[in-house]
Amino acid sequence: MTQYELTKMAGAVIAALLLIFGMKTFIDIRLAGHGHHGKSAGYTLPAAVAVAGGAAAGAPAEAGFSFAKVAEALPKANVENGKDIFKKCTSCHSVEKGGKALQGPNLWGIVGRAKGAVAGFGYSEPLKAKGGDWSYESLANFVNNPKGYIAGSKMVFAGLPAASDIADLLGYLRTMADTPAPLPAGK
Ligand code: HEC
Repeated sequence: MTQYELTKMAGAVIAALLLIFGMKTFIDIRLAGHGHHGKSAGYTLPAAVAVAGGAAAGAPAEAGFSFAKVAEALPKANVENGKDIFKKCTSCHSVEKGGKALQGPNLWGIVGRAKGAVAGFGYSEPLKAKGGDWSYESLANFVNNPKGYIAGSKMVFAGLPAASDIADLLGYLRTMADTPAPLPAGK
């Protein structure tokens, strides 16, 4: 064999190997991708995106979260801190009176407002079906773990784990209304 033929053969072998490994990697990637998909069709945004820049990025909602801690902290809520925490929400929610809907509905007067009340906003079916008004308790539970409180909600937010943060946030949200909602009874 001449040097030229040898080089050509080596080239052919390398090309064949590349093809085989390339195919295998391609198939692996396809299979791995399938493993990650949930039952629902379409795409799922990574939840961590919703809290990008927040201390709670990627943190799972606190297990055994109880509203009692929030109710206790509410009368001493730090409204300024609550306004700061609300920055985690502003990518999707305006809160000032008459503010426009973003990815989520405007939240003016949310404490005590009926669930799914913004006319023309495309709420998910599960949120519309939940019914009732947004009490401090339901807001706390929803903000702590949106999909835990309303399975199938389209609010992509990992949740605020700390009861004190939720109390501060609700302490701020109640002020964003014509008449601030009274604090939970007996507190
Ligand atoms: C990535 C976007 C996004 C972020 C971040 C987000 N939300 Fe939402 N939010 C939504 C969407 C979308 C809905 C509508 C959910 C549905 O229809 O299931 C919603 C619904 C709500 C509702 C119900 C409103 C109503 O009219 O019934 C409340 C309350 C709420 N969000 C509060 C918050 C708070 C507080 C934060 C921050 C801690 C937050 N959201 C962060 C997208 C977001």
